Amino acid sequence: MSSADALPSPLIARLPPALAALLAHLPGLALAALLIASGLDVAAVAYPVLVGLSAAALAAFWKLPVWWRWINLFFVPALYLGLSAELDSRWFLAGFLVLVLTSLGAVGTRVPLYLSSRRAAEELAQRLPPGGSLCDLGCGLGGPLARVRALRPDARLSGVEAAPLNWLVARLRLAGRAEIRLGNLWDADLSGHDLVYAYLSPAPMAKLWEKARAEMKPGSLFVSNTFPVPDLSFDEEIELRDLSHSRLLIRRM
Ligand SMILES: C[S@@+](CC[C@H](N)C(=O)[O-])C[C@H]1O[C@@H](n2cnc3c(N)ncnc32)[C@H](O)[C@@H]1O
Repeated sequence: MSSADALPSPLIARLPPALAALLAHLPGLALAALLIASGLDVAAVAYPVLVGLSAAALAAFWKLPVWWRWINLFFVPALYLGLSAELDSRWFLAGFLVLVLTSLGAVGTRVPLYLSSRRAAEELAQRLPPGGSLCDLGCGLGGPLARVRALRPDARLSGVEAAPLNWLVARLRLAGRAEIRLGNLWDADLSGHDLVYAYLSPAPMAKLWEKARAEMKPGSLFVSNTFPVPDLSFDEEIELRDLSHSRLLIRRM
């Protein structure tokens, strides 16, 4: 299933995915409350597992993007474990800080961090002309750029990333091999690149296409991993057959 597939219920489709994922917990919570009220002799750990499983199943049924199913599966059980382990509250603060430092881009662009597969990077490397320039918009931890660098030593590589921790990892990983900038992808100049790659979310795609159309040079390639642009047909679509069933959508400018 592609992350961009339509949701089955129009009501759910109109909700932000995070809210739909949260709502998916309600049936499991209601069932757990009923079981507790019935006085059945059930081990306490069974309740969070039940809620996690049902929330993940409902997220899958609603065709929420794959990462929400995993988040739903583990969210309540992790909460239960954290609370029953009576963790020092500083661990929660540390977790929150890591989340902020890795997901700052998600605030404005509604794009969290998840990673391209190796296959995606291999396809990009194949499509780059000799000595060509590739830019990864929202380059995350630098995985695709590192893979392309290994396959295409001739390429000129760059990336822009909004979340400080992701940027730092990418920058250290690719030091001297790619130009990694901390900043907002909307400020990036796309005019000099032969291939612009984006693995973002449905939210920014219409605006990103406007930017690409205005700035990218004729003959260059705009490649979106998984997320289409509304009302735009792509020249090529490649199923990557990776774990998240992603696909590359390629448009020649
Ligand atoms: C889905 S991840 C993809 C990471 C990497 N490109 C990959 O394919 O493995 C999207 C990344 O875009 C970053 N991001 C989101 N909005 C951004 C923005 N406005 N400017 C720069 N980076 C952004 C996020 O922080 C995240 O690291």
